[in-house]
Amino acid sequence: MKSTMPLVFSITSGKGGVGKTNIAVNLAIALARFGKRVILLDADLGLANVDVILGITPKYNLFHLFNGEAGLEDILYQTEFGFKILPSASGVTEMLQLSPEHKMELLDAMDSLEEELDFLVVDTGAGINNDVLYFNLAAQERIVILTPEPTSLTDAYALIKVLRQHHKVDHFKVLVNLTADQKEAKQVYMRLYQACDHFLTGVSLELIGFIPRDASVRESVIKQTPFCVTAPEGAACKAVTQAAHTIETWDVPASLDGNIKFFWKRLLFRQES
Ligand SMILES: Nc1ncnc2c1ncn2[C@@H]1O[C@H](COP(=O)(O)OP(=O)(O)O)[C@@H](O)[C@H]1O
Ligand SMILES: [Mg+2]
Repeated sequence: MKSTMPLVFSITSGKGGVGKTNIAVNLAIALARFGKRVILLDADLGLANVDVILGITPKYNLFHLFNGEAGLEDILYQTEFGFKILPSASGVTEMLQLSPEHKMELLDAMDSLEEELDFLVVDTGAGINNDVLYFNLAAQERIVILTPEPTSLTDAYALIKVLRQHHKVDHFKVLVNLTADQKEAKQVYMRLYQACDHFLTGVSLELIGFIPRDASVRESVIKQTPFCVTAPEGAACKAVTQAAHTIETWDVPASLDGNIKFFWKRLLFRQES
């Protein structure tokens, strides 16, 4: 039987500026259009990208929740596009310093989302700093965004290597962005595949789609309106919608505690190694 629990997946990359936030936002829209209940966790602590892309300024973020200044309902920002945003603004390192009682309160608050949600999409920062690693470790699936640029490949490889060798993560999904066509996307994916196959053991990489370079993406960023709204028939939106269809079919592992609680538990109670 297909699990009815929510799935937590991350959108991540080694290199910055590869399209993560645009993809995360538009995947959230595509999934919402299929009738799914989606929360986008803005976990890119460096740049408040989700806000900028949507032209919004949420009043509260997780920091206010940790401080007890706001409840979860105040923090969840309802967008006009059918999904909600959970703005982050503080790193995992700060979260780890919360008292055990406070952490339990947070877990209980987060647990209330379990029944109300189909997907928690985590937009991470780039690179291999602790925040990026911890959010990726806590997520149930990771979508690595690649582009044809050589640095995107080497940085994605570096991220996968750390997650594999130090944290035993062994499966990754790959979405190639900014491609000319499917042929180029496959080549880019194959390069990463070969590097992983050669130098790492037991890594499974699955190509889940490609998103062409599309002028509507840049235009939408300037308009601060997602491209699946400004150009729903455009190539980028069609590709993201197709990826969302694939994501919809993924098996959702079921955690005893519930998947949302499990995600936060892994973040908040992680053992430093
Ligand atoms: N498929 C695409 N076609 C054209 N431009 C794109 C595409 N994807 C991303 N971009 C450009 O890349 C920029 C960075 O994207 P962004 O989502 O902010 O990346 P990241 O979150 O990885 O840093 C966007 O502002 C946009 O101009
Ligand atoms: Mg971003």
